[in-house]
Amino acid sequence: MYRFLFRMIVIVFLAPVDSNKIHKWTLKQLEANINCQDKVYKSSERVSRDYWVLENYILADHGPLPCYANVTYTTHSDYRYLDNVVPLLDRWRSPLSLAIYAPGEDFEPTLRSILYLLQCHPGRHLVRELASFHLFFDVLLMPKVVPTAKVALSRQANCSAPVPYANVRKMDLYRSRMKLNYPVNMGRNIARDASLTYFVLASDIELYPSPGLVPAYLRFFSLSVIPNPELLYTSPVVHVLRIFEVMSNVSIPNTKPELQSMLYSGKAVPFHLKICDVCHTGPKLMEWINAVDMDTENLNVFNEGKRMWDYELWEPVFIGTIRDPPYDERLSWEGQRDKMTQAYAMCILNYTFHILDNAFLVHKPGIKHLKWDELDDTQIEKTDGLMNGRIFKELEITYGTRSGCLIL
Ligand SMILES: *[C@@H]1O[C@H](CO)[C@@H](O)[C@H](O)[C@H]1NC(C)=O
Ligand SMILES: *[C@@H]1O[C@H](CO)[C@@H](O)[C@H](O)[C@H]1NC(C)=O
Ligand SMILES: *[C@@H]1O[C@H](CO)[C@@H](O)[C@H](O)[C@H]1NC(C)=O
Ligand SMILES: *[C@@H]1O[C@H](CO)[C@@H](O)[C@H](O)[C@H]1NC(C)=O
Repeated sequence: MYRFLFRMIVIVFLAPVDSNKIHKWTLKQLEANINCQDKVYKSSERVSRDYWVLENYILADHGPLPCYANVTYTTHSDYRYLDNVVPLLDRWRSPLSLAIYAPGEDFEPTLRSILYLLQCHPGRHLVRELASFHLFFDVLLMPKVVPTAKVALSRQANCSAPVPYANVRKMDLYRSRMKLNYPVNMGRNIARDASLTYFVLASDIELYPSPGLVPAYLRFFSLSVIPNPELLYTSPVVHVLRIFEVMSNVSIPNTKPELQSMLYSGKAVPFHLKICDVCHTGPKLMEWINAVDMDTENLNVFNEGKRMWDYELWEPVFIGTIRDPPYDERLSWEGQRDKMTQAYAMCILNYTFHILDNAFLVHKPGIKHLKWDELDDTQIEKTDGLMNGRIFKELEITYGTRSGCLIL
């Protein structure tokens, strides 16, 4: 009862503040309850597995951040996907940690693409303020020249030349000519390890969040998670964002009511419904879509799921933390199932997936049909072999087993 009253008072108290600003009370709650350590924000180099990693090669102007007070979008790509950076940041408006795979001759156009974003793009102020860029490449396939960031940044981009990342085909990449796999999980881990904040949204660069998500999430966390010791201390909880696709000729919905009307008119559909229904549906998708939400200002948990039984193939994207299990760096994009080991570990560790009601991700416009030629059968077989043999045994040793948790 007291908790309920307290919550009512807090809600009334918070109501008039600008929804993009985060309230002092929220910050105090987070600071007192989140056990994290601020990081030094600087550039560094290291060798990790068979790769050189240039962490924070380009630093964001935001500088050092308190670890509890923000959420970092962590992601990976090659330079062909850098067209997503500005539309993503325009909606996210919070730190971005981006790991780019740039082996050999892909390094130079990668650098030119970043310089274009920082110097020429109309949204360059967002990129400078919010984006930290990490570059990585195989130790055996070094670029000819790796300038220091200072030297690289002092170069003047030619803003009237064609956009360096536009219209690049996969076959144009050095990586494709060398038949290299895309080390997706190296990228995911590099980006997440470099996050200055405890909370992260580990996502794919083409998935754009609904606007205002970060301040709403921090408010939600301090009001709904922190006061519940069962949520905070028993088993870990992460917060899932449902994913949608929209037609290429429509604008991206900003609010859930906008999304709902687009779903009803067929301008939007749940993500990859045609390609892999079970991977993205999760429990109660239709109920979520049809729910009429009275409280459109605040985030709440709509329903929860476990990644087991009927949902063992579910690949949710969620706001979690830097302490969630890492991705297995031996698995590549081409081999598929690259998130399965993390998912298995989370099942064993009894994670609960709380699905948020008023926030979502939208894929870069254009409804996708999977091109089968992008998959590589020999890589898939290799992954299968690795998974069924070594990796499964390792996971059992590291995390144990639990009925209902499967590696698929
Ligand atoms: C910049 O690019 C434009 C268009 O490709 C070209 O005409 C111009 O010479 C370039 N300028 C410099 C300084 O390279
Ligand atoms: C998160 O950090 C960015 C960059 O400093 C800042 O613009 C934004 O307001 C911060 N968000 C919150 C909720 O404080
Ligand atoms: C978008 O394209 C579809 C067909 O591809 C068409 O039916 C629809 O009218 C278009 N919508 C707008 C807003 O142009
Ligand atoms: C697993 O999490 C659920 C909450 O989703 C909890 O009720 C249950 O006790 C936990 N099980 C173990 C073994 O910790």
